[in-house]
Amino acid sequence: MKIVSIVGARPQFIKAAAVSRVLRRRDTEILVHTGQHYDESMSDVFFQALEIPLPDYNLEVGSGSHARQTGEMLVRIEEVLASVRPDAVLVYGDTNSTLAGGLAASKLHIPVGHVEAGLRSFNRTMPEELNRVVADHLSNLLFCPTQTAVDNLHREGVVKGVHLVGDVMYDVALTHAQQARKRDIVSRLGLTPQGYVLATVHRPANVDDRETLGSILKAFLECEEIVVFPVHPRTRKNLTQFNLDRGLPKSVRLLEPVDYLDFLALVISAKKVATDSGGVQKEAYFFGIPCVTLRDETEWMETVEDGWNAVVGTQTADIVDAIRNFNPHGTKSKSFGDGHAAEKIVKLLESLA
Ligand code: UD1
Ligand code: UDP
Repeated sequence: MKIVSIVGARPQFIKAAAVSRVLRRRDTEILVHTGQHYDESMSDVFFQALEIPLPDYNLEVGSGSHARQTGEMLVRIEEVLASVRPDAVLVYGDTNSTLAGGLAASKLHIPVGHVEAGLRSFNRTMPEELNRVVADHLSNLLFCPTQTAVDNLHREGVVKGVHLVGDVMYDVALTHAQQARKRDIVSRLGLTPQGYVLATVHRPANVDDRETLGSILKAFLECEEIVVFPVHPRTRKNLTQFNLDRGLPKSVRLLEPVDYLDFLALVISAKKVATDSGGVQKEAYFFGIPCVTLRDETEWMETVEDGWNAVVGTQTADIVDAIRNFNPHGTKSKSFGDGHAAEKIVKLLESLA
Protein backbone atom coordinates (compact mmCIF):
# COMPACT_ATOMS: atom_id res chain seq x y z
CA MET A 1 0.00 0.00 0.00
CA LYS A 2 0.99 3.62 -0.44
CA ILE A 3 0.45 5.58 2.78
CA VAL A 4 1.00 9.29 3.33
CA SER A 5 1.87 10.11 6.96
CA ILE A 6 1.38 13.71 7.98
CA VAL A 7 3.42 15.16 10.84
CA GLY A 8 4.45 18.66 11.84
CA ALA A 9 4.90 19.04 15.59
CA ARG A 10 7.29 17.52 18.13
CA PRO A 11 4.95 14.89 19.60
CA GLN A 12 4.03 13.72 16.09
CA PHE A 13 7.62 12.96 15.13
CA ILE A 14 7.79 10.68 18.17
CA LYS A 15 4.48 8.92 17.40
CA ALA A 16 5.26 8.54 13.71
CA ALA A 17 8.66 7.02 14.52
CA ALA A 18 6.90 3.95 15.96
CA VAL A 19 4.50 3.46 13.06
CA SER A 20 6.90 4.37 10.26
CA ARG A 21 9.37 1.71 11.33
CA VAL A 22 6.76 -1.05 11.01
CA LEU A 23 4.94 0.40 8.01
CA ARG A 24 8.07 0.54 5.86
CA ARG A 25 8.69 -3.20 6.21
CA ARG A 26 5.97 -4.02 3.70
CA ASP A 27 4.37 -0.82 2.47
CA THR A 28 5.44 2.45 0.94
CA GLU A 29 5.35 5.46 3.23
CA ILE A 30 5.51 9.04 1.99
CA LEU A 31 6.29 11.32 4.91
CA VAL A 32 4.91 14.86 4.81
CA HIS A 33 6.21 17.44 7.33
CA THR A 34 3.93 20.46 7.44
CA GLY A 35 6.67 22.64 8.95
CA GLN A 36 4.56 23.56 11.99
CA HIS A 37 7.66 23.04 14.16
CA TYR A 38 10.86 24.08 12.44
CA ASP A 39 13.57 24.99 14.99
CA GLU A 40 16.36 22.44 14.94
CA SER A 41 15.60 21.60 18.59
CA MET A 42 11.88 21.13 17.85
CA SER A 43 12.20 19.12 14.64
CA ASP A 44 15.56 17.91 13.24
CA VAL A 45 16.80 16.47 16.53
CA PHE A 46 13.85 14.06 16.63
CA PHE A 47 14.54 12.74 13.14
CA GLN A 48 18.14 12.13 14.20
CA ALA A 49 17.55 10.61 17.66
CA LEU A 50 14.69 8.38 16.48
CA GLU A 51 16.22 7.61 13.09
CA ILE A 52 13.12 8.72 11.25
CA PRO A 53 13.57 8.85 7.46
CA LEU A 54 13.74 12.42 6.18
CA PRO A 55 10.41 13.83 5.03
CA ASP A 56 9.58 13.42 1.34
CA TYR A 57 7.85 16.80 1.46
CA ASN A 58 8.42 19.73 3.80
CA LEU A 59 5.57 22.18 3.35
CA GLU A 60 7.35 24.87 5.42
CA VAL A 61 4.13 26.35 6.74
CA GLY A 62 5.74 27.74 9.90
CA SER A 63 4.00 29.65 12.69
CA GLY A 64 0.90 31.82 12.46
CA SER A 65 -2.64 32.26 13.70
CA HIS A 66 -4.73 29.10 13.79
CA ALA A 67 -6.61 30.03 10.62
CA ARG A 68 -3.54 31.08 8.67
CA GLN A 69 -1.48 28.08 9.74
CA THR A 70 -4.25 25.53 9.20
CA GLY A 71 -5.35 27.15 5.93
CA GLU A 72 -1.84 27.12 4.47
CA MET A 73 -1.49 23.48 5.47
CA LEU A 74 -4.79 22.54 3.82
CA VAL A 75 -3.76 24.08 0.51
CA ARG A 76 -0.30 22.53 0.47
CA ILE A 77 -1.38 19.09 1.74
CA GLU A 78 -4.11 18.93 -0.89
CA GLU A 79 -1.52 19.53 -3.61
CA VAL A 80 0.67 16.70 -2.32
CA LEU A 81 -2.24 14.27 -1.96
CA ALA A 82 -3.52 15.07 -5.43
CA SER A 83 -0.14 14.27 -6.92
CA VAL A 84 0.78 11.24 -4.74
CA ARG A 85 -2.72 9.68 -4.68
CA PRO A 86 -2.14 7.43 -1.66
CA ASP A 87 -4.33 4.52 -0.54
CA ALA A 88 -4.69 6.11 2.89
CA VAL A 89 -3.48 9.01 5.01
CA LEU A 90 -2.26 8.72 8.59
CA VAL A 91 -2.58 11.63 11.00
CA TYR A 92 -1.35 11.78 14.58
CA GLY A 93 -2.62 13.34 17.79
CA ASP A 94 -4.37 16.68 17.97
CA THR A 95 -2.38 19.52 16.44
CA ASN A 96 -3.28 21.84 13.59
CA SER A 97 -1.29 19.49 11.34
CA THR A 98 -3.65 16.66 12.37
CA LEU A 99 -6.73 18.69 11.54
CA ALA A 100 -5.42 19.90 8.20
CA GLY A 101 -4.20 16.44 7.16
CA GLY A 102 -7.48 14.77 8.05
CA LEU A 103 -9.62 17.38 6.40
CA ALA A 104 -7.62 17.62 3.18
CA ALA A 105 -7.59 13.83 2.77
CA SER A 106 -11.24 13.19 3.58
CA LYS A 107 -12.39 15.87 1.11
CA LEU A 108 -10.43 13.99 -1.55
CA HIS A 109 -12.17 10.75 -0.43
CA ILE A 110 -8.89 9.27 0.75
CA PRO A 111 -9.36 7.03 3.81
CA VAL A 112 -7.96 8.61 6.99
CA GLY A 113 -6.39 6.75 9.90
CA HIS A 114 -6.13 8.70 13.14
CA VAL A 115 -3.43 7.58 15.56
CA GLU A 116 -4.32 8.56 19.14
CA ALA A 117 -8.02 8.84 18.40
CA GLY A 118 -10.73 9.34 21.00
CA LEU A 119 -8.86 11.44 23.53
CA ARG A 120 -10.97 14.11 25.21
CA SER A 121 -10.33 16.77 27.83
CA PHE A 122 -13.94 18.02 27.53
CA ASN A 123 -12.45 21.51 27.50
CA ARG A 124 -13.34 23.22 24.24
CA THR A 125 -11.14 26.24 24.96
CA MET A 126 -8.15 24.02 24.12
CA PRO A 127 -7.28 24.13 20.40
CA GLU A 128 -6.34 20.46 20.65
CA GLU A 129 -9.85 19.46 21.73
CA LEU A 130 -11.36 21.02 18.62
CA ASN A 131 -8.73 19.41 16.42
CA ARG A 132 -9.36 15.98 17.95
CA VAL A 133 -13.12 16.06 17.71
CA VAL A 134 -13.05 17.03 14.04
CA ALA A 135 -10.25 14.62 13.15
CA ASP A 136 -12.05 11.74 14.84
CA HIS A 137 -15.34 12.43 13.12
CA LEU A 138 -13.80 12.42 9.66
CA SER A 139 -11.50 9.43 10.15
CA ASN A 140 -12.23 5.97 8.78
CA LEU A 141 -9.88 4.11 11.10
CA LEU A 142 -9.63 5.32 14.68
CA PHE A 143 -6.64 3.92 16.53
CA CYS A 144 -7.34 4.37 20.24
CA PRO A 145 -4.55 4.23 22.80
CA THR A 146 -6.81 3.46 25.79
CA GLN A 147 -10.23 2.04 26.64
CA THR A 148 -11.22 5.53 27.84
CA ALA A 149 -10.65 6.79 24.29
CA VAL A 150 -12.85 4.03 22.85
CA ASP A 151 -15.59 4.90 25.34
CA ASN A 152 -15.38 8.60 24.47
CA LEU A 153 -15.91 7.83 20.79
CA HIS A 154 -18.83 5.50 21.50
CA ARG A 155 -20.50 8.26 23.51
CA GLU A 156 -20.24 10.51 20.44
CA GLY A 157 -21.77 7.82 18.25
CA VAL A 158 -18.46 6.97 16.57
CA VAL A 159 -18.37 3.18 16.49
CA LYS A 160 -17.32 2.08 13.02
CA GLY A 161 -13.58 1.70 12.48
CA VAL A 162 -12.75 2.16 16.18
CA HIS A 163 -9.89 -0.06 17.42
CA LEU A 164 -8.14 -0.28 20.75
CA VAL A 165 -4.48 -0.73 19.77
CA GLY A 166 -2.50 0.71 22.70
CA ASP A 167 -0.31 3.76 22.82
CA VAL A 168 2.41 4.27 20.20
CA MET A 169 4.26 6.51 22.67
CA TYR A 170 4.62 3.46 24.90
CA ASP A 171 6.10 1.57 21.93
CA VAL A 172 8.64 4.35 21.39
CA ALA A 173 9.52 4.73 25.07
CA LEU A 174 10.16 0.99 25.41
CA THR A 175 12.23 0.85 22.22
CA HIS A 176 14.46 3.74 23.26
CA ALA A 177 14.70 3.40 27.05
CA GLN A 178 18.00 1.60 26.93
CA GLN A 179 19.60 4.16 24.61
CA ALA A 180 18.24 6.94 26.84
CA ARG A 181 19.80 5.36 29.92
CA LYS A 182 23.20 5.67 28.24
CA ARG A 183 22.85 9.44 27.80
CA ASP A 184 24.91 11.51 30.24
CA ILE A 185 22.69 14.60 30.37
CA VAL A 186 21.97 14.18 34.09
CA SER A 187 25.63 14.26 35.10
CA ARG A 188 26.48 16.81 32.41
CA LEU A 189 24.02 19.22 34.02
CA GLY A 190 25.58 18.53 37.42
CA LEU A 191 22.44 16.77 38.63
CA THR A 192 22.04 13.62 40.66
CA PRO A 193 19.40 10.93 40.07
CA GLN A 194 16.22 11.71 42.06
CA GLY A 195 17.79 15.05 42.91
CA TYR A 196 15.56 17.27 40.75
CA VAL A 197 12.07 17.89 39.43
CA LEU A 198 11.68 17.88 35.64
CA ALA A 199 9.25 20.54 34.38
CA THR A 200 7.70 21.34 31.00
CA VAL A 201 5.01 23.95 30.32
CA HIS A 202 3.64 24.98 26.94
CA ARG A 203 -0.20 25.03 26.88
CA PRO A 204 -1.48 28.40 25.65
CA ALA A 205 -3.78 28.72 28.71
CA ASN A 206 -0.71 28.38 30.96
CA VAL A 207 1.92 30.37 29.12
CA ASP A 208 0.10 33.06 27.13
CA ASP A 209 -1.27 34.67 30.30
CA ARG A 210 1.26 36.50 32.49
CA GLU A 211 -0.46 35.76 35.77
CA THR A 212 -0.78 32.01 35.15
CA LEU A 213 2.78 31.61 33.89
CA GLY A 214 3.97 33.70 36.86
CA SER A 215 2.02 31.48 39.27
CA ILE A 216 3.61 28.32 37.86
CA LEU A 217 7.11 29.80 37.91
CA LYS A 218 6.61 30.97 41.50
CA ALA A 219 5.82 27.38 42.49
CA PHE A 220 9.08 26.25 40.89
CA LEU A 221 10.91 28.90 42.92
CA GLU A 222 9.19 28.03 46.19
CA CYS A 223 9.16 24.22 46.10
CA GLU A 224 12.70 23.92 47.50
CA GLU A 225 13.79 21.51 44.78
CA ILE A 226 16.10 21.90 41.81
CA VAL A 227 13.72 22.36 38.86
CA VAL A 228 15.05 21.42 35.43
CA PHE A 229 12.92 23.12 32.82
CA PRO A 230 13.53 22.61 29.07
CA VAL A 231 11.61 25.56 27.66
CA HIS A 232 9.27 25.27 24.65
CA PRO A 233 9.68 28.21 22.20
CA ARG A 234 6.14 29.47 22.90
CA THR A 235 7.01 29.61 26.59
CA ARG A 236 10.44 31.16 25.99
CA LYS A 237 8.87 33.97 24.01
CA ASN A 238 6.38 34.70 26.78
CA LEU A 239 8.85 34.40 29.65
CA THR A 240 10.91 37.09 27.92
CA GLN A 241 7.92 39.26 27.01
CA PHE A 242 6.53 39.11 30.55
CA ASN A 243 9.98 39.71 32.03
CA LEU A 244 9.78 36.54 34.06
CA ASP A 245 13.09 34.97 33.02
CA ARG A 246 15.40 37.51 34.68
CA GLY A 247 17.11 37.03 38.02
CA LEU A 248 15.96 33.46 38.53
CA PRO A 249 17.80 31.62 41.31
CA LYS A 250 20.13 28.75 40.42
CA SER A 251 17.54 26.21 41.59
CA VAL A 252 15.44 26.86 38.46
CA ARG A 253 17.41 25.68 35.42
CA LEU A 254 15.97 26.91 32.14
CA LEU A 255 17.26 24.81 29.22
CA GLU A 256 16.70 24.84 25.49
CA PRO A 257 14.38 22.00 24.39
CA VAL A 258 16.30 18.72 24.39
CA ASP A 259 16.08 15.75 22.04
CA TYR A 260 13.93 12.71 22.80
CA LEU A 261 16.68 10.53 24.26
CA ASP A 262 17.95 13.27 26.55
CA PHE A 263 14.38 13.99 27.56
CA LEU A 264 13.69 10.36 28.46
CA ALA A 265 16.97 10.29 30.37
CA LEU A 266 15.81 13.31 32.36
CA VAL A 267 12.42 11.68 33.04
CA ILE A 268 13.93 8.39 34.16
CA SER A 269 16.18 10.03 36.77
CA ALA A 270 13.73 12.67 38.00
CA LYS A 271 12.31 12.74 41.52
CA LYS A 272 9.05 14.06 40.15
CA VAL A 273 7.73 15.53 36.92
CA ALA A 274 5.65 18.73 36.75
CA THR A 275 4.03 19.30 33.37
CA ASP A 276 1.08 20.37 31.27
CA SER A 277 2.15 18.11 28.39
CA GLY A 278 0.13 15.11 27.30
CA GLY A 279 3.13 13.05 26.28
CA VAL A 280 5.17 13.85 29.37
CA GLN A 281 2.37 12.74 31.76
CA LYS A 282 2.49 9.34 30.08
CA GLU A 283 6.28 9.08 30.02
CA ALA A 284 6.36 9.77 33.77
CA TYR A 285 3.84 6.97 34.21
CA PHE A 286 5.72 4.53 31.95
CA PHE A 287 8.87 4.96 34.03
CA GLY A 288 7.15 5.10 37.43
CA ILE A 289 7.90 8.75 38.18
CA PRO A 290 5.23 10.68 40.13
CA CYS A 291 3.62 13.33 37.93
CA VAL A 292 2.14 16.68 38.95
CA THR A 293 -0.08 17.92 36.14
CA LEU A 294 -0.39 21.69 35.80
CA ARG A 295 -3.90 21.64 34.37
CA ASP A 296 -7.45 21.29 35.63
CA GLU A 297 -8.15 18.14 33.66
CA THR A 298 -6.33 15.41 31.77
CA GLU A 299 -7.04 13.17 28.80
CA TRP A 300 -4.96 10.44 30.40
CA MET A 301 -7.30 9.43 33.22
CA GLU A 302 -5.65 6.03 33.66
CA THR A 303 -2.55 7.71 35.11
CA VAL A 304 -4.76 9.42 37.72
CA GLU A 305 -6.92 6.39 38.48
CA ASP A 306 -3.80 4.30 39.04
CA GLY A 307 -2.63 6.91 41.54
CA TRP A 308 0.47 8.16 39.68
CA ASN A 309 -0.72 11.57 38.48
CA ALA A 310 -1.93 14.50 40.61
CA VAL A 311 -3.89 16.97 38.50
CA VAL A 312 -3.51 20.19 40.48
CA GLY A 313 -4.09 23.18 38.20
CA THR A 314 -1.91 26.29 38.19
CA GLN A 315 -2.18 27.88 41.64
CA THR A 316 1.25 28.28 43.25
CA ALA A 317 0.28 26.75 46.60
CA ASP A 318 -1.31 23.66 45.01
CA ILE A 319 1.72 22.99 42.82
CA VAL A 320 4.17 23.46 45.70
CA ASP A 321 2.11 21.14 47.89
CA ALA A 322 2.00 18.43 45.22
CA ILE A 323 5.71 18.70 44.39
CA ARG A 324 6.53 18.32 48.09
CA ASN A 325 3.91 15.82 49.20
CA PHE A 326 2.34 13.85 46.35
CA ASN A 327 3.34 10.22 46.53
CA PRO A 328 1.83 7.55 44.28
CA HIS A 329 -0.07 4.87 46.10
CA GLY A 330 -1.35 2.56 43.36
CA THR A 331 0.12 -0.15 41.18
CA LYS A 332 0.37 0.57 37.49
CA SER A 333 -2.02 -1.16 35.11
CA LYS A 334 -1.56 -2.23 31.50
CA SER A 335 -3.74 0.62 30.25
CA PHE A 336 -1.38 1.71 27.48
CA GLY A 337 -1.05 -1.63 25.71
CA ASP A 338 1.80 -4.05 25.24
CA GLY A 339 4.33 -1.94 23.35
CA HIS A 340 3.14 -3.23 19.96
CA ALA A 341 0.52 -0.64 19.04
CA ALA A 342 2.30 0.17 15.77
CA GLU A 343 2.07 -3.43 14.51
CA LYS A 344 -1.66 -3.45 15.18
CA ILE A 345 -2.12 -0.13 13.40
CA VAL A 346 -0.27 -1.28 10.29
CA LYS A 347 -2.23 -4.54 10.15
CA LEU A 348 -5.52 -2.68 10.34
CA LEU A 349 -4.37 -0.21 7.68
CA GLU A 350 -3.43 -3.08 5.39
CA SER A 351 -6.94 -4.48 5.79
CA LEU A 352 -8.11 -1.49 3.73
CA ALA A 353 -6.34 -2.89 0.67
C1 UD1 B 1 1.61 22.74 19.16
C2 UD1 B 1 0.24 22.06 19.22
C3 UD1 B 1 0.06 21.42 20.59
C4 UD1 B 1 1.22 20.52 20.96
C5 UD1 B 1 2.54 21.27 20.80
C6 UD1 B 1 3.68 20.33 21.03
C7 UD1 B 1 -1.56 23.11 17.89
C8 UD1 B 1 -2.74 23.99 17.94
N1 UD1 B 1 -0.82 23.02 19.03
O1 UD1 B 1 1.59 23.80 20.08
O2 UD1 B 1 -1.12 20.65 20.58
O3 UD1 B 1 1.08 20.10 22.29
O4 UD1 B 1 2.62 21.81 19.46
O5 UD1 B 1 4.86 20.96 21.34
O6 UD1 B 1 -1.29 22.52 16.88
N2 UD1 B 1 7.77 28.26 17.69
C9 UD1 B 1 9.09 28.46 17.42
N3 UD1 B 1 9.78 27.46 16.77
C10 UD1 B 1 9.20 26.31 16.38
C11 UD1 B 1 7.84 26.13 16.64
C12 UD1 B 1 7.14 27.12 17.30
O7 UD1 B 1 9.67 29.49 17.75
O8 UD1 B 1 9.88 25.44 15.80
C13 UD1 B 1 7.05 29.32 18.43
C14 UD1 B 1 6.38 30.35 17.53
O9 UD1 B 1 6.45 31.59 18.18
C15 UD1 B 1 4.93 29.87 17.50
C16 UD1 B 1 4.74 29.27 18.88
O10 UD1 B 1 6.00 28.70 19.21
O11 UD1 B 1 4.04 30.90 17.24
C17 UD1 B 1 3.67 28.22 18.95
O12 UD1 B 1 3.87 27.19 17.97
P1 UD1 B 1 2.64 26.35 17.39
O13 UD1 B 1 3.14 25.23 16.57
O14 UD1 B 1 1.65 27.26 16.80
O15 UD1 B 1 1.94 25.77 18.68
P2 UD1 B 1 2.57 25.02 19.93
O16 UD1 B 1 2.38 25.87 21.13
O17 UD1 B 1 3.94 24.56 19.60
N1 UDP C 1 10.13 16.35 24.62
C1 UDP C 1 11.45 16.38 24.23
N2 UDP C 1 12.21 17.44 24.60
C2 UDP C 1 11.75 18.44 25.38
C3 UDP C 1 10.39 18.40 25.78
C4 UDP C 1 9.59 17.34 25.38
O1 UDP C 1 11.93 15.46 23.56
O2 UDP C 1 12.51 19.39 25.66
C5 UDP C 1 9.31 15.23 24.15
C6 UDP C 1 8.67 14.40 25.25
O3 UDP C 1 8.97 13.07 24.99
C7 UDP C 1 7.19 14.65 25.10
C8 UDP C 1 7.06 15.01 23.65
O4 UDP C 1 8.26 15.71 23.35
O5 UDP C 1 6.40 13.54 25.38
C9 UDP C 1 5.80 15.79 23.34
O6 UDP C 1 6.00 17.10 23.48
P1 UDP C 1 5.05 18.22 23.99
O7 UDP C 1 5.01 18.21 25.46
O8 UDP C 1 5.57 19.42 23.32
O9 UDP C 1 3.60 17.91 23.35
P2 UDP C 1 2.25 17.24 23.86
O10 UDP C 1 2.53 15.83 24.18
O11 UDP C 1 1.74 18.01 25.05
O12 UDP C 1 1.33 17.42 22.71
